[in-house]
Amino acid sequence: ADVAAGEQVFNANCAACHAGGQNVIMPEKTLEKEALEQYLAGGRNEKAVISQVTNGKNAMPAFGGRLADDEIANVAAYVISSSEAGWE
Ligand code: HEM
Repeated sequence: ADVAAGEQVFNANCAACHAGGQNVIMPEKTLEKEALEQYLAGGRNEKAVISQVTNGKNAMPAFGGRLADDEIANVAAYVISSSEAGWE
C-alpha cells in the first residue's frame, strides 16, 4: 500500500472528522495508537481499518463504493503509520 497516496485520500475524505488523528464526533475514539488498540474492532492493524472504512460504524459513513479498494488500502496504511508516528 502507498502511504503517501493514503495521506491524500485521508485529507480529502477523513480529515473533516479526524484532523490530526482526532475525532470531532466521538472524542475518545481517536486514531491514536492507544485508542485504536482499545476500540477498533479487530485491533490496531490495516485489515481492521479497511473493514471499518469500507463498512462504516454508527456515525461514521461507509466508504465502500465511494472509494476504490486501493484507495481504502492506502488510507488504512496511512492511518496505521501515523498512529505509530504519533500524528503530530
Ligand atoms: C472511528 C477511520 C472518515 C466519524 C474511526 C476509526 C477509524 C476511522 C480507524 C476507529 C477509531 C477508534 O475506534 O478509536 C476513518 C477513515 C476515514 C474516516 C480512514 C476516511 C476514509 C470519517 C468521517 C467521519 C467519521 C468523514 C464523520 C462524518 C467517525 C466516528 C467514529 C470513527 C463517529 C467512531 C465510531 C464508533 O465507534 O461509534 N474512523 N474515518 N469518520 N469515525 Fe472515522
